[in-house]
Amino acid sequence: MFRVKSRKKLDVLSNEVFVKALVSSGRTCILVSEEDEEATFVEPSRRGRYCVVFDPLDGSSNIDCGVSIGTIFGIYMVKDDHEPTLDDVLQPGKNMLAAGYCMYGSSCTFVLSTGTGVNGFTLDPSLGEFILTHPNIKIPKKGKIYSVNEGNAKNWDGPTAKYVEKCKFPQDGSSSKSLRYIGSMVADVHRTLLYGGIFLYPADKKSPNGKLRVLYEVFPMSFLMEQAGGQAFTGKQRALDLVPAKIHERSPVFLGSYDEVEEIKALYAAEEEKA
Ligand code: AHG
Ligand code: MN
Ligand code: MN
Repeated sequence: MFRVKSRKKLDVLSNEVFVKALVSSGRTCILVSEEDEEATFVEPSRRGRYCVVFDPLDGSSNIDCGVSIGTIFGIYMVKDDHEPTLDDVLQPGKNMLAAGYCMYGSSCTFVLSTGTGVNGFTLDPSLGEFILTHPNIKIPKKGKIYSVNEGNAKNWDGPTAKYVEKCKFPQDGSSSKSLRYIGSMVADVHRTLLYGGIFLYPADKKSPNGKLRVLYEVFPMSFLMEQAGGQAFTGKQRALDLVPAKIHERSPVFLGSYDEVEEIKALYAAEEEKA
């Protein structure tokens, strides 16, 4: 079983909608979805050059209470004129051509980067079109908000525990940070992008690779963060340098404002020096 979480009706429906639209576009050759164990190879007559990796519905635990959920995606292009293989998607996130998400909340927001900055669009339902409402998004260099599932704290490693302790009890005279955690990555990352701060889904003793999936959660969000002037780190390396070995691989991730991620990196470096 490649996933253990319970699947909701809307997970299945949204996956069908995206797979159908992407295949019938004639532009794609490989699709990797959180909801499908195997990658989909588009038949030659409908094949294009793009590989799309996506989480069709992110935040499914929030569906039934009407809290913001979303869709996350990343796009690679097949390297040459060859028969597409899984290696075309098992590439580091820095090779993505584009990445983005849609957030279904009090408004429908679409955030996109094609590698030259980040732009945010809002759906105008009366026109049926997305309007550029947030041009050239830059994440604040520092932030006052940290976002993490603190219920896992007893299983955290040293650097994560230290960082969160510093957020709550800063020793340098700065004020404590606020905690905000929605439990939909799209919504937590969107707030982080606009307000600054840090989003963490660390490794813990029970989940040594964290929870979030490299290809369609960690990479697209890391791509957006870097494009907006922030950083994304796995606890070991720059997130976008990871080379996934499997399509549903997981990784810990720390992403957000440049200075906040610098702090986490310093704590991991200090831990490594001790070892
Ligand atoms: P999904 O709904 O696609 O399975 O993703 C859920 C993810 C992500 O949206 C969120 O950041 C994280 O799960 C929350 O996990 P916890 O409930 O363990 O905090
Ligand atoms: Mn998800
Ligand atoms: Mn999902």
